[in-house]
Amino acid sequence: MSTADLLTARLETVRDRTLDLVAPLDDEWVTRTPDPIMSPPAWDLAHIAAYEELWLVTRLSDGPPLHPDLQATYDAFETPRAVRGEIRILDAAESREYMDAVRARALEVLREADTSADGPELTAGGFVWDMVAQHEAQHDETLLQTLQLMPPGAYSPCLGALPPGGACADGPDPIAIAGGPLVMGAAAGRGALDCEMPAHVREVAPFRIDRNPVTIGRHLDFIADGGYDDARFWSAEGWAWRQQEGVHAPLHWQPDGAGGWTRTWFGCTEEVDPAEILCHVSFHEAEAHARWAGGRLPTEAEWEFAARHDPASPDDAWAPWGDAPHDGLANLGQTSFRPSRAGAYPGGVAPSGCAHMMGDVWEWTSTEFDAYPGFRAFPYPEYAEPFFRDGYRVLRGGSWATQAVAARTTFRNWDLPQRRQIFSGLRMAWDAA
Ligand code: AVJ
Ligand code: FE
Repeated sequence: MSTADLLTARLETVRDRTLDLVAPLDDEWVTRTPDPIMSPPAWDLAHIAAYEELWLVTRLSDGPPLHPDLQATYDAFETPRAVRGEIRILDAAESREYMDAVRARALEVLREADTSADGPELTAGGFVWDMVAQHEAQHDETLLQTLQLMPPGAYSPCLGALPPGGACADGPDPIAIAGGPLVMGAAAGRGALDCEMPAHVREVAPFRIDRNPVTIGRHLDFIADGGYDDARFWSAEGWAWRQQEGVHAPLHWQPDGAGGWTRTWFGCTEEVDPAEILCHVSFHEAEAHARWAGGRLPTEAEWEFAARHDPASPDDAWAPWGDAPHDGLANLGQTSFRPSRAGAYPGGVAPSGCAHMMGDVWEWTSTEFDAYPGFRAFPYPEYAEPFFRDGYRVLRGGSWATQAVAARTTFRNWDLPQRRQIFSGLRMAWDAA
């Protein structure tokens, strides 16, 4: 396959996913948002098209954009989420048309483009096309957060099957890691985005980390033990948030009236499953759970060490299990609509012994989002740089709602410590024994 064919296939795979995702959405909700922290779905759709048009058409050829008057509307900084529900945006059919028209032009440009590895940095090895595919996949995950917030009846997807859970400890199962030098971050030319670079050596001190992410069962113990009502487990900022919001359980959970809990997934309410990996907790809740259980959150470097360091080979595989595709090895790809049960992917274990390091839930780390030493914004400064040192915490590993094209052991996600509409959970860490 030529590089152009490969990039075309990558763009088409993500587009199929986008269209499949929004297909079951009730028309009324395409241009409405259920929550001002999110955008109406149609905004994400036309923004996907506007971003693609900018990077794959306007920047690589001559010719004006299709909707010059709407450029600011679909610029994430000029039009923040809080106002996207109140301004004029393209409707469902118009957004769809815009996506199709841009895609046709982008593929024409790609057919004539130089994608060689020694060409200009933007296009070398197909970088900018890969970046656009990743951007669309990221917005698909954002769309899923919005869809998850919708009232019953607005969105009823068909849930994909998951493998059964495996045998695993009821509580924490610490793995001792000796530490040492880690090549942290990604080498150029591997599809990584600017904040993952440059690759650099970090000395990681010995530590312990949990084999599995925290499950619902373990969080039920935290709840039953009064964890949400005991200020000792919370940071001052976390306690203030918990008090102000009146938080008693993860987002989308409700008491079942009999002392237990149900949760609502995409409009469907069911009893919580103790074996399933915990999702929809904020950084504050994750930190309180970890403190209650006698540990802490891992630092970002510890997480990366546990996810990819292999004393037997260079730290450069895309996934914890190596370079094979994720099928059967991780819950990625946006079709399961929920995390798996702990132990469900014995083949996807990292050399450290840690399981579920990719897929299922984004794992909160204790690290504040910041630049790596030698960071250079590329190809535009707004992707990551405005969020450095501004209270955002790093999340790692990707969730069930992340597509493979946007998942890597070096991938850095970030969000505010109070956010929990994202597909976020936690994994415990401890200092060395
Ligand atoms: C990397 C997920 C934090 O959604 O805000 C999408 C990705 N950047 N469009 C976000 C992103 C520009 C970003 N996150
Ligand atoms: Fe975007």
